[in-house]
Amino acid sequence: MLTNVLSRRRTPLDGDWNVIVDPYEMGYWGILGDRNPRGFFRDFTSRHPGDRVEYDFDASPSLTVPGDWNTQDERLLYYEGTVWYRRKQEIRPERPGERTFLHVGASNHTSRVFLDGEELATHVGGFGPFAVELTGRLDGDTVDGHSIVIQVDNRREPDRIPALRSDWWNFGGLTREVAIVRVPETFLADAWITMAPDGRIVGGHRVDGADEPVRITIPELGVDTVVDSEFELDVDPERWHPGRPVLHELHWTCGADTIRDHVGFRTVETDGHDIVVNGERTFLRGISIHGEAPSGGRRAHGVDDASTLLGWAEDLGANFVRLAHYQHDEHTVREADRRGLLAWCELPVYWGIAFDRPHVLENAIEQLDELVVRDRSRASVVFWSVANETLPSPERTSFLAALADRARELDPTRLVSAALLTLPTDALEHVIDDPLGEAVDVVAVNQYLGWYYGDRDAIPDTTWRSTHDKPIVFTEMGAGAKAGHHGEPGRIWTEEFQDAVYCAQIEMIRRQRTSSGGAVAGMSPWILKDFRAPVRVLPGIQDGYNRKGLLSEEGDRKLAFETLRAFYLDVATESD
Ligand code: GCU
Repeated sequence: MLTNVLSRRRTPLDGDWNVIVDPYEMGYWGILGDRNPRGFFRDFTSRHPGDRVEYDFDASPSLTVPGDWNTQDERLLYYEGTVWYRRKQEIRPERPGERTFLHVGASNHTSRVFLDGEELATHVGGFGPFAVELTGRLDGDTVDGHSIVIQVDNRREPDRIPALRSDWWNFGGLTREVAIVRVPETFLADAWITMAPDGRIVGGHRVDGADEPVRITIPELGVDTVVDSEFELDVDPERWHPGRPVLHELHWTCGADTIRDHVGFRTVETDGHDIVVNGERTFLRGISIHGEAPSGGRRAHGVDDASTLLGWAEDLGANFVRLAHYQHDEHTVREADRRGLLAWCELPVYWGIAFDRPHVLENAIEQLDELVVRDRSRASVVFWSVANETLPSPERTSFLAALADRARELDPTRLVSAALLTLPTDALEHVIDDPLGEAVDVVAVNQYLGWYYGDRDAIPDTTWRSTHDKPIVFTEMGAGAKAGHHGEPGRIWTEEFQDAVYCAQIEMIRRQRTSSGGAVAGMSPWILKDFRAPVRVLPGIQDGYNRKGLLSEEGDRKLAFETLRAFYLDVATESD
């Protein structure tokens, strides 16, 4: 693990990588099931007329990195399998006292990394960062640079996370930045700082290399001190607050290693049925967001995509974004810091997970570590979510409780939750009694009254409570509509139909918020914008897109956007 990469000396390997599409993985496996000693990872080129080499990266097509492969070549739109990426790169050997890493922001789903034909590492998980050390392997002259080969396989498997089924596009490839990162021989592999619910500033670090003192300086707060691997600071900084973000410049030093960051400090906790930020009861005026770009139907990456998507959330009057259903780009959470948006971060522990397989829990914990360790200095992040819509069972609840424990072990300062499933029902009184409620701080529930089930007219009279007496957040609600498709509110897929569901849901929430037992502390309707989903195939309406967005896949507003915006402005006026 290598954190704070965006503020380190790095050479992004953006741009063209040569690729070979390899659906049978014969570029890795020999016909006897052994590893092929002459596999694609050797990056051979024929050197004399008798040379039998049956591939040639130099003569192969290229794809742009970062980026999914699905939307760069129409033949790959639905492709699920292996693609080999190869980059020839001049990388000077380390200077004395230096170390070199290859850092990958995300690669979906499972990756093998090779340098000059040698296999160095395997990474399992499509949305978290990973680093592979190259130190000491860069000597020797190379013809036209070192051969960096990354084999990426996005197959869905029953024992992967996510598993076989998801309602989002299985974008494969090197979907975020790949870079060469140089660090001193002793460096800060991890360094983090945040504010605990009681207002203490807490943090930690991990030094890789010889033992060197670690110093933290926050000039605006008069902090300049050596800190232990787990530390507290006795300062009372101006708080970061939703809508009023305050970030403090901060420097870490460890021997020759220096990291510069900008960090906000706020408290988050629950109090009965309320979520409390900096001691203020805060209703979460949220919206769910997939990591899909503002246009073009591709995997989002980079600061521009993050800025546009979060700008749309702000236009909606949101103070909260649910970054569904997996770890988003680091630029997105840093942009949330800058904009003063609270954020929910989530693991892709989604439908059909093999909860009874030990190696699946091991990988879930690896992905959770990547999620928490990368972003636990981000003031915007207030939730770690360990799952979405998992069917209750003893195996599932113990699996998710183990993840909740791990999240608290890594970061006891934030709220732990999971989005629960509401099974179809016509009930007017909903009691959420999922046993997982014991293990989480906030009971989050996805409910689709007025869309998948329930009489729309009865929605305003519907009530919700949990048997755990904790805050409830509607992490999903909504309905589908094709932008520009208009008709009676009774006609499905019209903007008017979607808007009528939002009006009914908002009336229910208004009543829930004011009633004595009201436990609804927030909402993040599904979803900011339409997004690609293979199961959404209704011709002329869906055409491969989930249409529950308040915006079309290109950002055009639907009627319900204004309806929700008016409610959020109303609520914001109340609480400000
Ligand atoms: C589920 C799920 C989403 C999905 C949504 C829908 O609640 O969490 O990922 O897209 O419902 O059906 O549109």
